[in-house]
Amino acid sequence: MNPPDADLDYAVELAEENPGLTITGGARDTFDRLAERGYDGRVAIRINPGIGTGHHEKVATGKDAKFGIPYEQVPAVAEDVADRFDLVGIHAHAGSGVLHDDLDDHCRAIGKVADMGRRVGEVTPLSFVDFGGGFGVPYREDEEPLDMQVVGEKVREAVGDLDARIKLEPGRYVVADAELVLTEVNTIKEAPAATVVGVDASLATLIRPAMFGSYHPIRNVSAPGRDAEPVSVGGPCCTSADVFCTDRPIARPERGDLLAIGNAGAYGYELANQFHSQPRPAEVAIEGGESRVVRERETLADVTRTER
Ligand SMILES: Cc1ncc(COP(=O)(O)O)c(C=O)c1O
Repeated sequence: MNPPDADLDYAVELAEENPGLTITGGARDTFDRLAERGYDGRVAIRINPGIGTGHHEKVATGKDAKFGIPYEQVPAVAEDVADRFDLVGIHAHAGSGVLHDDLDDHCRAIGKVADMGRRVGEVTPLSFVDFGGGFGVPYREDEEPLDMQVVGEKVREAVGDLDARIKLEPGRYVVADAELVLTEVNTIKEAPAATVVGVDASLATLIRPAMFGSYHPIRNVSAPGRDAEPVSVGGPCCTSADVFCTDRPIARPERGDLLAIGNAGAYGYELANQFHSQPRPAEVAIEGGESRVVRERETLADVTRTER
């Protein structure tokens, strides 16, 4: 949504070189800007189903006006778009991190998108209807994973008959548990309100706790057998949002221990940033017992490279 000119130029260039590619637009204005560039190839319309789902209001895109064509405007926009381009699909994404309680709402959103797929299909045959991603994973130790058999049945029922291919774009579900953040304890402070464990990682490394209040499991991998003590774990950034947990029982951390922050594969490194000019960490992949660095650790020189 809201693609800068350079992104649209790039998308058009790519689509013209690869006529099988589809450009998705989420505003009538975006289609005007594509037409201004002489583009008349494959497009899909991102629609706003009016139902947002997911683990936090800031990821509930399905009811946020920023995302997609407003539901009731879709038929008119689709007619206009089909006149000017090769309209091949409609697309939506209701939200992210959908677990059990949100599943029915998520399927209601899917049902509305499928309804719109049928309506637009009367204007022009669609090759696909894309329902986005959204399926969540357990972050807390006592949470149950989704039963994908049940999810499949509910989604199929919500979609109903549709004369188009169904697409889903699961992100978090595939990668969330594929990565963890390893961070070293640098400070232990016994404050009256809490025992504070200072670590090298920060909200710049893993922003989900600060941004969404998200829970990530944390273990002391240096000494898992020590007695657990309730501690707060925080990083070096100058904001009280820079905490990974408060008052959480963890095998009593000591300076130099390594803590593992789990389930960091989704919206982890992708959202890592240079808050407070902090270099981002290295990324190490493990495959078949072998490990290799797949992203170098940044240095201060990397962070300041473009400064004049
Ligand atoms: C359009 C779209 N599709 C798919 C996804 C992936 O979502 P998830 O990781 O919840 O499966 C996103 C996430 O923001 C998205 O915006």
